[in-house]
Amino acid sequence: MTNVAVIGSQWGDEGKGKVVDLYSAKADFIARYQGGNNAGHTLVVNGKKTVLHLIPSGVLHKGKTCLIANGVVFDPLCFFEEIDQLIAANVLGHAPWNSVKVSERAHVILPYHCQIDKLRENHLAHSDSKIGTTHRGIGPAYEDKVSRRGIQVIDLLDAKVLRRKLQLAIEEKNVLLKNLYSAPAIELEPLLAECLKLGERLRPYVNNVRSILVQATVDKKPILFEGAQGTLLDIDHGTYPYVTSSNTTAAGAFSGTGLGLGSPTRVIGITKAYVTRVGSGPFPSEIEKSEPQMAEQIRKIGMEFGATTGRPRRVGWLDLVALKYAVEVNGLDGLALMKADVLSGLSEIRVCTGYKIKNAVIHDFMTASYDLDQVKPIFESLPGWTDLNDGVTGNFLKFIRFIEAYVKTKVILVSTGPGREQTLELENPFQNLVN
Ligand code: IMP
Repeated sequence: MTNVAVIGSQWGDEGKGKVVDLYSAKADFIARYQGGNNAGHTLVVNGKKTVLHLIPSGVLHKGKTCLIANGVVFDPLCFFEEIDQLIAANVLGHAPWNSVKVSERAHVILPYHCQIDKLRENHLAHSDSKIGTTHRGIGPAYEDKVSRRGIQVIDLLDAKVLRRKLQLAIEEKNVLLKNLYSAPAIELEPLLAECLKLGERLRPYVNNVRSILVQATVDKKPILFEGAQGTLLDIDHGTYPYVTSSNTTAAGAFSGTGLGLGSPTRVIGITKAYVTRVGSGPFPSEIEKSEPQMAEQIRKIGMEFGATTGRPRRVGWLDLVALKYAVEVNGLDGLALMKADVLSGLSEIRVCTGYKIKNAVIHDFMTASYDLDQVKPIFESLPGWTDLNDGVTGNFLKFIRFIEAYVKTKVILVSTGPGREQTLELENPFQNLVN
């Protein structure tokens, strides 16, 4: 029995939603373990577009158990919006809590987290320190978790505990809101009432997710770990400070669920045939300035606009230096190559194989983001392909072999369009590790 983790290898938006959707058919349990509703997985099923921000995309498959584990920051308002949407679309059965379960120990995103996220970003609007967050309250909620002032899902079920914890949490927030942002103070009573109401509705969904996963392991039921965002946005290993606030790398699957490192897990990295980034921060292979028309063409054909915020994504050629780093940091043992069709018809395709800084040539992805800002990409040109109707052949095969040789990892899945059927599965990761 093998578990599989699906990890973004770039700055998010690699197309993880589609791979998670495909792999969900092969798993019994699908777990989100980090991040929150800053993610946005766009799926096309039976020609219908569905965007999920918080609930694992596996929910669209009947008979699967979708889990929101401890490491997620959980916005109950977003959760019920998605639940209501799924109920209306007839995706969930009679008792939706049978297919979606939320960890009692996940930290809750409250309206003040979103408010502080927005105020902070607006305050920094014209400075280099602006991160370009999704305004979903992710950073402030993780700050409260780490400073031990967080509200956990279980707290929403106990009025006495919740009152005490909210009181403590908002005391400091009100000083910040009033003195730094000249914003109105948070009032305890209406917030408490709203939280308790949400808690009551949430009660049947609340579970010990860690022990569900342990039991799944005992029963030899395959688990799919659904990563959100991407490696280069990891709080420890990304382009800090232009990152998100969680461990987006593979290790996050273990810390975020509480499942031991010993469970056999294949780690599949998702990469587009090019790269995009939303928000601020270094991006060595970016072509917005050097090849603006090409950037615009890829953005348009690839529909590279944020699923959560609608922002246009910055575009660049595939960065193999960064991809090799993602292989190392995550221990990737397979790659899924997405959106190759977006580049179809180009006579020449470029890939970044090194960075130049002053007179030196570098092949390591640097973690100090200010240095990374200074590097110049070294591009190699490869011949393009006209279409992908014949599958992995000709110049497209050469492109894949070039990537594999550089990062020393095999491409095991190729996506040639948004639909489930536009996929070439070269290997099934659930079958390949014998326990
Ligand atoms: P936050 O996660 O909202 O705090 O945003 C921090 C950084 O991560 C910003 O640059 C966001 O644009 C980026 N980010 C967060 N979630 C995603 C995602 O799902 N895809 C791509 N970028 C993301």
